[in-house]
Amino acid sequence: MEGRGKEAVHKCHSDPGGSGRRGRSYSGRKCVLTLDGYSYVIVASPPERPPTKEDAPSPTGEMPSINRNGQLSKQGSLTIVRRSSAKKQQRTTSEEESVDSDDLTTDNLPAIDTPDACDKAAARLRCLLKQLERGEISADVLQKNLQYAARVLEAVFIDETKRTDSKAATDRSEGETTINITQRKLKTPVWAVRSSVRKKEQGEESSRRLADEDDELSEVQPDAVPAEVREWLTSTFTRQLAPTRCRKEEKPKFRSVAQAIRAGIFVDRIYRRMAASGFMQFSPEIVEVLKSLDDWSFDVFSLGKAAQNQPVRYLGYDLLNRYGCLSKFKISLQTIENFLNRVEQGYLRYGNPYHNNLHAADVAQSVHYMLCQTGLMNWMTDLEIFATLIAALIHDYEHTGTTNNFHVMSGTDTALLYNDKAVLENHHLSASFRVLKEEDCNILSNMSREEYREFRSLVIETVLATDMSCHFHQLKNMKNLLSLQEPSIDKAKALSLVLHCCDISHPAKKWDLHFQWTSLLLEEFFLQGDREKELGLPFSPLCDRKNTLVAESQIGFIEFIVDPSMSVCSDMLEAILAPVVAPAAAKEVKRSVSVSEDTRKHHEQINCDDAPPPFTIKKPWLTCLAENKKIWKERAVIDAAARAAAEAAAAAEAEEEERRKQEEEGQKSEGKVEE
Ligand code: CMP
Ligand code: MG
Ligand code: ZN
Repeated sequence: MEGRGKEAVHKCHSDPGGSGRRGRSYSGRKCVLTLDGYSYVIVASPPERPPTKEDAPSPTGEMPSINRNGQLSKQGSLTIVRRSSAKKQQRTTSEEESVDSDDLTTDNLPAIDTPDACDKAAARLRCLLKQLERGEISADVLQKNLQYAARVLEAVFIDETKRTDSKAATDRSEGETTINITQRKLKTPVWAVRSSVRKKEQGEESSRRLADEDDELSEVQPDAVPAEVREWLTSTFTRQLAPTRCRKEEKPKFRSVAQAIRAGIFVDRIYRRMAASGFMQFSPEIVEVLKSLDDWSFDVFSLGKAAQNQPVRYLGYDLLNRYGCLSKFKISLQTIENFLNRVEQGYLRYGNPYHNNLHAADVAQSVHYMLCQTGLMNWMTDLEIFATLIAALIHDYEHTGTTNNFHVMSGTDTALLYNDKAVLENHHLSASFRVLKEEDCNILSNMSREEYREFRSLVIETVLATDMSCHFHQLKNMKNLLSLQEPSIDKAKALSLVLHCCDISHPAKKWDLHFQWTSLLLEEFFLQGDREKELGLPFSPLCDRKNTLVAESQIGFIEFIVDPSMSVCSDMLEAILAPVVAPAAAKEVKRSVSVSEDTRKHHEQINCDDAPPPFTIKKPWLTCLAENKKIWKERAVIDAAARAAAEAAAAAEAEEEERRKQEEEGQKSEGKVEE
């Protein structure tokens, strides 16, 4: 790597084996890059070669490095291992001053793929930052210069791919599956960055985090649930479909490492500064709630209140930013803001108690939990993460507050349009993609044609699979797949199951949350029942406000729908993630340097055969499901007693009425006799 420009000072030297990574007999290269006053230590690791006889085990018995998958890495990698805590004194002639703030025109800039372009773009970005801080920048100048910087950045990428993209790719060769994984790290949220920027200014270092369905139902004992609940389960959760999707492998690579790193750091910084400077204002109340965004039982109702009923706007922005989707897919802050606002409005269109913007935010947050807390994000590409988050956000867009059954039975235009098939799900998708076609909401405008096709295909497949009539089919297929010796799990199918589970996950959250959701959903169902009554239609299951067994329906929903779904989803995630998170195969445990000594000892203690315990994910939903079911059971007993008491009271009243009538008639006939 070579020093370029006035402010960048690079020092390169080899890192002879022992210092960085234990047990290696070859060198990595270390490079110090001074940028904007900070020193970045970047370590370049060469591709790994297979161990030879000369590679003696280290004193701890470790062999040369084998990655987490037990495979030798064929590509080198670059890691920023450290950044200096203090900013060095800036030269007074730094490049941002060399750009005249009045001369940010983009007419005579060097060609984007020339060495000069990178320096020019960097200098301009810094100048823009200064102007942004002073609030002097015009949107047009900002946009043109950012576009130029983005094109320069693109030019330093070779078309294929990159390893630092944190992507996971699955290669198949001679029947063997090789999974290349890089650990992802979520970006620091914008609201947290702001306080860390403040800390920096105070001289502190900010610590950067960088059968078929009937078979399934026949397993439900006839008397396990009331007939009414069983009828609802049958009519709602059976049937099927799901198209397949072709996918292509991507492989990005850097042409110039130094340029890419520098440009990446600048663009990232400008996004963060812009975000901090006004586009999205996170109030202290929102920040407080978002602190627990990574928790399973995140309180989305509190977010709704703190965000003045704009949870999609804030949560959507925060997630897309933290997963790096905004910078990766070059989405302007104005566009993402417009898009999220439109999505939010779509959810508010029919004033539904349940299917509204809060439900969208809730499902997106649950998906986020699955991606980041189980490690699923390490199995996914940037595009798949982006598509999954957007699918969660739009999955019930413009929900009418009525079910597919209502659309079909009342013959709505939407049912006619989609021929009674997945009526709502088709609408959510179609209407969302229409929004995405509007220029000011088009967050996909900088995607390549192939990326767009893949994104669209994945969003369509996952959202269509939220149709509850696919439920048993989906579960059964996944179960069958997981029972195979070496299951090969299709990404779209896996992500569809994750989204479906998150869509029905509130009974697996803490009671307070679950109870609120249930009350809201039942109110929505009852409103539909009222309309059905008006239209002279039969009540849909659970829609008759006078005759619905609430507690029993929830017990049935938990026992036969949610619990089995979460269970299959957990099994699937463990099957997918075992080779991703746990190091390679069990037999590699002893040798792999990626397993700590403690972990290895732990494995040895609990398993004499030296095999590690099977990989498991955290399952916070298990206790919630059990607890919620218990509470509903208690309520069912109380409700049954209340119903029995009400029936007895009604019978007593009817008896009393009868007695009174007879008495009156007796008196009348006595009167007649006297006359
Ligand atoms: P939707 O969000 O479109 O997709 C999942 C569906 O599950 C949801 O609509 C409801 O129809 C149904 N659902 C969610 N929660 C419950 C519940 N507690 N009881 C019954 N049905 C539910
Ligand atoms: Mg839905
Ligand atoms: Zn939903």
